[in-house]
Amino acid sequence: MNCWKLQKLQVQNFRNLDPSIFSFVEGINCIFGNNGNGKTNLLEAVFYLTNKKSFRKNTSFSQMINIEGENPQIIIQAVFGDEKNISSYSLRENEQLQERFWDNLPAKGKTPTSSVFINPFDSYQFHNSSTFRRQWLDSHLSLIDNEYKKTLAAFTKAMKFRNSLLPMGSRTQLQLRAIDEQVATQSALITAKRMEFAQELTNYITPCFSQVFDEQHQLVLELDSLFTHWDAKKIYDYYRHQESIDYKSGVTQVGVHRDDVVFTFDGLNAFEFCSLGQQKMGFLSLIFAYIELFRYKFTSYPIVLIDDVSGELDSQRWKNLIQYLETKKFQVLITTANENFGKELEKIPNSKKFFITQGKLV
Ligand SMILES: Nc1ncnc2c1ncn2[C@@H]1O[C@H](COP(=O)(O)OP(=O)(O)OP(=O)(O)O)[C@@H](O)[C@H]1O
Ligand SMILES: [Mg+2]
Repeated sequence: MNCWKLQKLQVQNFRNLDPSIFSFVEGINCIFGNNGNGKTNLLEAVFYLTNKKSFRKNTSFSQMINIEGENPQIIIQAVFGDEKNISSYSLRENEQLQERFWDNLPAKGKTPTSSVFINPFDSYQFHNSSTFRRQWLDSHLSLIDNEYKKTLAAFTKAMKFRNSLLPMGSRTQLQLRAIDEQVATQSALITAKRMEFAQELTNYITPCFSQVFDEQHQLVLELDSLFTHWDAKKIYDYYRHQESIDYKSGVTQVGVHRDDVVFTFDGLNAFEFCSLGQQKMGFLSLIFAYIELFRYKFTSYPIVLIDDVSGELDSQRWKNLIQYLETKKFQVLITTANENFGKELEKIPNSKKFFITQGKLV
């Protein structure tokens, strides 16, 4: 796979952003600006172009189109380059239609590269909400495993259908059993892939933690699922065993849609044991572990978008984090509204600095 870096970006009618041309460097790009001026919007435009969805939940075209713009069309144009080639990649979207172009030809399927987004609030949510942890697992695993993505989509559809049968009572038994054949096969694959993913991430988390924060701790991510090591037949039989309970409650009680992951720090549950700063350090190490795993799978790094991570980390931890970013070969876009963290970022040699005011590059 080519190691594409984002060289230029121009957006039109995307949230509050002005159609300025941003020229990025291959290493660290620092984006400064006061609150509410468009830093996160810029990261969102990059993420939307490269990952085909927003990192914000429930965001659709109507939220992304500039509310004051006259033209009801979003355009995001970019130039990507690797060691040898340069390509343009763009998207054009209105209420009805989204089109993507690679070197001016219609593009289907893969984008030049993917992005990973690191958001300060995600650490809190990750440690506090099992739904968030499962969604985190699903979205990150889907990005590196297409079979998982497709199976999960099919499972979600099948489970929706299953849940629509249950309130109708046992007269739907034949249909229920037919759909459970699918659900069981999908569940076995989903569980196996989630287990493998948690294991692969675990291999990287502890080294990432010590590399970034210069401290030795054992960090482990483990899947918490009833179906661990179960094959499709065993899962199907289990659903037979549960059938009357599910009919009674009108909803599927147990399944991979309720799975969780447990994140431990030196053998103790990170949520119960760690300080907020340690939780954030653990979560950042998990993301950097994911970035390393991504590189292992695709032999190229994703673009790393870091949205103001300074809160809760002390200045020594910032410095460690910045040093870590300087040693890595990935392209980083990092934002901050925090002046002290900004001063640390400004010291990075060879990085590029941008200042955004009211959506404009100044
Ligand atoms: N569809 C839209 N059209 C126009 N402006 C929008 C749209 N959606 C959001 N905005 C504006 O974008 C601004 C927020 O941008 P953004 O979240 O990128 O700020 P930020 O620089 O990251 O701020 P902070 O430092 O507080 O995180 C707000 O002023 C908001 O009103
Ligand atoms: Mg922001």
